Amino acid sequence: MTLRSGRQFLSIPGPTTVPDEVLQAMHRPAVDIYGGDGGGELFGITTRCLSDLKEIFRTTGDTYIYVANGHGAWEGTLCNVLSAGDTVLVLESGRFAVGWGEQAHSMGIEIKSVPGDWQHAVDPTKVEEALRADTENKIKAVLVVQIDTASGCVNDIPAIRAAMDAAGHDALLMVDTIASLACMPFEMDAWGVDVAVGGSQKGLMTPPGLGFAAASPKAKERHQHAGLRTSYWDWTYRDQDEHYRKYCGTPPVHLLFALRKAMDMLLEEGLDNVHHRHALLAGATHAAINVWREGGTFDFNILDPKQRSQSVTTLRLADGFAPEPIRAYCQNTLGVTLGLGIGDLSGKAFRVAHMGHVNAPMMLGTLGALEITLDVLGMIDGTSKGGIKAATEFLATSLKA
Ligand SMILES: Cc1ncc(COP(=O)(O)O)c(C=O)c1O
Repeated sequence: MTLRSGRQFLSIPGPTTVPDEVLQAMHRPAVDIYGGDGGGELFGITTRCLSDLKEIFRTTGDTYIYVANGHGAWEGTLCNVLSAGDTVLVLESGRFAVGWGEQAHSMGIEIKSVPGDWQHAVDPTKVEEALRADTENKIKAVLVVQIDTASGCVNDIPAIRAAMDAAGHDALLMVDTIASLACMPFEMDAWGVDVAVGGSQKGLMTPPGLGFAAASPKAKERHQHAGLRTSYWDWTYRDQDEHYRKYCGTPPVHLLFALRKAMDMLLEEGLDNVHHRHALLAGATHAAINVWREGGTFDFNILDPKQRSQSVTTLRLADGFAPEPIRAYCQNTLGVTLGLGIGDLSGKAFRVAHMGHVNAPMMLGTLGALEITLDVLGMIDGTSKGGIKAATEFLATSLKA
């Protein structure tokens, strides 16, 4: 017996559910990319996407759209501001901070790390210490992920900026917002971020394939002397007026149709409302887990509630439990696909995403399917079965307030 027929729910932390309106926006022929009516339309879409990205990153700096996934955007930002032999300070909070650092290393950049245990956010005091110890000023950039999608933690970017300022260090602050943009507040200019990296496939509700970058004036200044610049990623090349250069080649026409629609939807909802929706759906998820965890079979991976992200929650299993039966039952019998544990959490954790195009019934459906799964697999009993009640009460109380 299965109950999975009907709409499948994707609760993996990216790619996320693409709204029907966004899918429909792509369902049209390609247009002339060089001009004429279609080309003219595309120029307009590019101009508006680049300026709306500024609004979403909250910056007056320059923005860029790459035909790339998140790894591409990582590389694209590193090579625009760094030279081989430079050192970057990697703030470890999960697989993605580490991965960005590994990529920098593969490009000839030296790595120093502030190590982390993947159960806590980055400690800003350790960042200050590491920068103070850099008396020869070798560190040219600090790499941090706002929400590390593997561990489920959220890092405090303003506190990290304050630590850099307290150390009097002039490294660039480079922030990966791939799993946080349009899920929680990000204030590039107000927080003193120099380079921000984003991707289309999570909070931005667009299929994978577009990477975003935003650069502060200080980053653009460093860019003038960066030795790793290559023509595809190059900001100066893309700053030219000609439309073709904005993508260093053929524009990703259909992904741009999708992105335009998705940004229209986000801006119509209002970014503050979008963030608040994510906060409430994360709160409902956390309320349910707080009850289920009493069964002793799993717990939040991130120990401090304030460090748990509002786009994805990682659940660490107790010894003797494996994620695969949970994911398999939830998917095959109930039609909800949960995320895998990745990196050091592979085989030890699973993830529930609450990001992007998601609303109360989708989230309650996901949590309901998970509660049934946990019950069937004997992982909750007695009072630890009351997760859904806690989630709905959390939402009702929040909405009344
Ligand atoms: C925070 C974060 N950074 C970077 C990436 C890498 O992005 P991609 O898989 O699109 O290359 C991901 C992917 O999930 C991510 O969550």
